[in-house]
Amino acid sequence: MAKKANETIEQTTEGQITRRRLLTWLSSFGLFGSAAVSIVSNLVFIKPRATYGQPNRFNIGKPEGFPSGTRITLDQHNVCVVREGDKVCAISTVCTHLGCIVSASETGFACPCHGSRYDQDGTVTGGPAPKALPWYRVTLAPNGELEVDKSEEVPAGTYLNA
Ligand code: FES
Repeated sequence: MAKKANETIEQTTEGQITRRRLLTWLSSFGLFGSAAVSIVSNLVFIKPRATYGQPNRFNIGKPEGFPSGTRITLDQHNVCVVREGDKVCAISTVCTHLGCIVSASETGFACPCHGSRYDQDGTVTGGPAPKALPWYRVTLAPNGELEVDKSEEVPAGTYLNA
């Protein structure tokens, strides 16, 4: 009897959106919509967000690789490793004016872009550079290699005894 009544109602509303049909459509849309959002968010979560730029902390090799009295520029890291006796330090080779890479000169460092000059310690001696070249912390890694940490600046004249 009830089935017959339902059929009668459906027949009378044929061509119109019934309340039942509307609710079915909305709940289906909500179910599939939330499933789609869930799948997309999981894919975004799975995708690695690693950056592959230069790391701020890196090993530069054993101390013996830097003989006393040398100033070795490591182009891939933009630092100059200075060895004086048993002391080692790392000085940035990025010009403090507009970021060009300075090169080692007889008197210290020279910038090819606008002519800034720095002495052996990175102190500005001429040109438009507003401040000295930064020094970075150098430590001895557990494997015996020197490790430079470019995220940590140290005062000029800070050496590692190695
Ligand atoms: S970038 Fe070095 S002097 Fe301008």
